Amino acid sequence: MKTRITELFGIEHPIIQGGMHYVGFAELAAAVSNAGGLGIITGLTQKTPELLAKEIRRCHEMTDKPFGVNLTFLPTVTSPDYPGYIKAIIDGGVKAVETAGNNPQKWLPVLKEHGINVIHKCTSVRHSLKAEAIGCDAVSVDGFECGGHPGEDDVPNFILLPRAAEELKIPFVASGGMADGRSLVAALALGAEGMNMGTRFMATQEAPIHDNVKQAIVAASELDTRLVMRPLRNTERVLRNAAVDTLLEKERELGSAIKFEDIIDQVAGVYPVIMKEGAMDAGAWSCGMVAGLVRDVPTVKQLIDRIMAEARAIIHQRLAGFAAA
Ligand SMILES: Cc1cc2nc3c(=O)[nH]c(=O)nc-3n(C[C@H](O)[C@H](O)[C@H](O)COP(=O)(O)O)c2cc1C
Repeated sequence: MKTRITELFGIEHPIIQGGMHYVGFAELAAAVSNAGGLGIITGLTQKTPELLAKEIRRCHEMTDKPFGVNLTFLPTVTSPDYPGYIKAIIDGGVKAVETAGNNPQKWLPVLKEHGINVIHKCTSVRHSLKAEAIGCDAVSVDGFECGGHPGEDDVPNFILLPRAAEELKIPFVASGGMADGRSLVAALALGAEGMNMGTRFMATQEAPIHDNVKQAIVAASELDTRLVMRPLRNTERVLRNAAVDTLLEKERELGSAIKFEDIIDQVAGVYPVIMKEGAMDAGAWSCGMVAGLVRDVPTVKQLIDRIMAEARAIIHQRLAGFAAA
């Protein structure tokens, strides 16, 4: 399948694996790239630029296909060493960067100078247009359904994607709620040129996370996610668990007076404990509503091959059948 996204990133299938904290290690990124998609290493999961450089080297050893690095610009108290991370990306010969969070404008000239394609993740049409205006090559349009940070506008992809298609000139992928061949065909029909998946890729053999996390996603239905940190305007969609119930109870009790310090136990530093040790109630962790569509833990290649076969069957049989009628 050829789209502007496959052309831009030099990949076989229009499928990207979004950056995921403590999930997007070289093992997963390489598996996705080897299966013909674009795998992405999560930059900030590596505590220093030196460690990111090492992770990039590990990924090169596992694949000779293109892969990317995610750089997330979120409001943090102490800013990470972004220039150092960018140097590691450039020196590591990486040709794709997924940016997310704050406006990446400051970093674009140096990335472009080194021939790196930038896809910025946006949760609104206005941010997507801004990304286009500042020179990003593509956008990942993240609907309200998505795991992680859906922004504060709450527009689901059935509206957000066609709105993005009406306004954008650069190509974009649909992100949030994508799981299978149906998702891909729907995304293409709504104007996207590929799809980005987070939660679905967690439940794969190669995702280097504890099996408890994969099983929790398989067991969850589309009703099992919750939005946390809305009062802090840092909304995150997470899987409901004991820590999330505690967090939401605090949000109800404290109302608009709530501060980050009040919920620090439920959100700060919890990812390694959950993803590596499988302590499922240790804190709030990102998960999309799409968990309701995840029922197995295939290899990444089985997943991607299945998606492409299903998408082709839908286009050539189901849709072609309707069109002929
Ligand atoms: C566990 C988890 C961690 C994530 N961490 C990040 C992150 O560090 N940076 C980022 O830009 N997006 C992050 N995301 C968002 C994903 O890259 C992707 O946009 C999102 O999962 C898409 O929605 P889906 O889960 O419905 O597929 C994370 C998502 C999950 C599920």
